[in-house]
Amino acid sequence: MPGTAVAGRQPKGYNRPLRVALKRSTGEPGAIRGRFGGRFCAVADCQGTFTRENIVANYLVTGSAGFIGFHVAKKLLEEGHAIVGYDNLNPYYPPVLKRARHERLREFDRFTPVEADLCDLETLGRVVESHKPDVVCHLAAQAGVRYSLTHPFVYGESNLHAFLNVLEVCRHAPLDRLVYASSSSVYGGNRDLPFSEDDPVDHPISLYAATKKANELMAHVYTHLYGLQTIGLRFFTVYGPWGRPDMAMWLFADAISRGRPIKVFNYGKMQRDFTYIDDIVSGVIAAIERDGLEPYEVLNLGNHRCEELMHLIELIEGELGTEAEKEMLPMQPGDVPATYADVERARRKLGYEPTTPIDIGVPKFIDWFKARADLIEKVRHEQETD
Ligand SMILES: NC(=O)c1ccc[n+]([C@@H]2O[C@H](COP(=O)([O-])OP(=O)(O)OC[C@H]3O[C@@H](n4cnc5c(N)ncnc54)[C@H](O)[C@@H]3O)[C@@H](O)[C@H]2O)c1
Repeated sequence: MPGTAVAGRQPKGYNRPLRVALKRSTGEPGAIRGRFGGRFCAVADCQGTFTRENIVANYLVTGSAGFIGFHVAKKLLEEGHAIVGYDNLNPYYPPVLKRARHERLREFDRFTPVEADLCDLETLGRVVESHKPDVVCHLAAQAGVRYSLTHPFVYGESNLHAFLNVLEVCRHAPLDRLVYASSSSVYGGNRDLPFSEDDPVDHPISLYAATKKANELMAHVYTHLYGLQTIGLRFFTVYGPWGRPDMAMWLFADAISRGRPIKVFNYGKMQRDFTYIDDIVSGVIAAIERDGLEPYEVLNLGNHRCEELMHLIELIEGELGTEAEKEMLPMQPGDVPATYADVERARRKLGYEPTTPIDIGVPKFIDWFKARADLIEKVRHEQETD
């Protein structure tokens, strides 16, 4: 029977040097799939010969129409893996961009999109039951600190209820690992820089941050009670092509290119650890595939550079050849003045090595922004008719 264990599936456990669980492949008729310490799923022919080209794994990526989920899914598809992409394409920001991302992923034969809400436990359960992912990479969430001040219940649904559903289906499914997105916002108003995973994170200053911290606590319970391996990743301000229209990088590029004023909060006295999307993707994929991780991990993924907001603005102005009209404003409630990631633990555990400073990453984003004028225009149109 396709997808059912025929031999050697052991109870969930970690760090065994060589774990071999043979299952019939869901994808390749007659092929056998072997797992080695959770790292590889290699497809063998009927003689049992494993070949590098045939290495294939089955992953569920939630938030696949979102910025980070799209890039993670795309990279995994490029590596030949099979991806179920789960997303409700909600209208928090223009769905035209989310649909365009999914359209791009549909170019891969091994991509299966599921447009549904994670709060719909029945659908989520059915998807996991039928696709039997080896790892769930949960990147869907209601993002945004400022929006959580005005729309608190959306965060209750998409970040707490949905997360509980993900934990429940993972607990009952025979899968190896749950990788999920946390956030640098859990560090709240901490003043000691850089932020380390050992720092106290008991005083979040936005509901968004509180839901992300709650996710880490909920994951801990499921690791402790049910042996589900959970890897939480605290992302630090991610940017790049196909980015988010609600985030500073896009807002600045959009406003400056249209000759409109930009809003500069805390009168420009903000510092951020801006992380280029390709670096984040490499960290997420290492979290999915690496051996030797503990049953419960929480790791920072940042660029390990604390950049001045005004320097970012200068870079964007330089790339667009226009000086921005700046509206200098006070700090927004829920916002923090500085973020800066200590990435030593991620370096040690994941081999994570961010390589893209903003002087290189910002021009890449602006090149994409200019090249996709058609898509940008559609996003603007949806924003204006909202
Ligand atoms: N981008 C960043 O700088 C950043 C920083 C820290 C943490 N994060 C976290 O990383 C993850 C990915 O962020 P992103 O920037 O790609 O955000 P995004 O908004 O672009 O992507 C999230 C996706 O999740 C989907 N989604 C939301 N609620 C859902 C639900 N109930 N059911 C199904 N789908 C749902 C949305 O439609 C969206 O496509 C999120 O968990 C976010 O909180 C992002």
